[in-house]
Amino acid sequence: MKNIAVINGSLRKDSLNRTLAEAIAGLAAESMRFQFVEIGDLPLYNEDLWAQPPESVLRLKREVEAADAVLFVTPEYNRSFSPAIKNAIDWGTRPWGQNSWESKPSAVIGTSPGAGGAMAGQNALKSLLTVVDTVQMGQPEVYFQFKPELFAADGSVADEKTREFLMRWVRRFDGFIERVSPPKTSAQA
Ligand code: FNR
Repeated sequence: MKNIAVINGSLRKDSLNRTLAEAIAGLAAESMRFQFVEIGDLPLYNEDLWAQPPESVLRLKREVEAADAVLFVTPEYNRSFSPAIKNAIDWGTRPWGQNSWESKPSAVIGTSPGAGGAMAGQNALKSLLTVVDTVQMGQPEVYFQFKPELFAADGSVADEKTREFLMRWVRRFDGFIERVSPPKTSAQA
């Protein structure tokens, strides 16, 4: 079972992106455990805070470092990705030399009620994930126009084509993590 740290850039309760991530978590349940990382309580990045690091920052680093992979789920804000994600990424790269993202398998997904389906926001995030040294899955991309009828009230995927599309992504992400991860020692397995 792979542990996936999920970072959702939307902090609001009724996040469409959270709906998407939870639906994928359901589809992936046989091989991946999705653990949502809290980023809403991180302070805005301030170098001075390292003198006495906030628990929320230490928790973020711990949870990312313990995960087998990181899934970023981002809303699109003004053709870019969520500032909450940028803040979390910045915290994770420090202290210098202790970059929590280094060599982590990663992927980006997202949705929007707009016709572009959060593609522009995802593209901006993807270039940053290379800079911070994650190992990123390029395909398949998951961006689409969110329509409420695609998802059922229980959080499952109601639309068959969408379910197949997301299931294909799940299988690819599962295989990708195996391909790019170093073999586990017997103590870690
Ligand atoms: C948006 N939204 C938006 N949508 C889009 O497709 N392209 C965009 O550039 C923007 N820009 C934007 C800016 C700001 C400040 C907000 C608050 C919203 C709409 C956005 O996609 C919509 O609110 C989603 O529902 C946000 O995702 P969650 O919170 O539902 O996951």
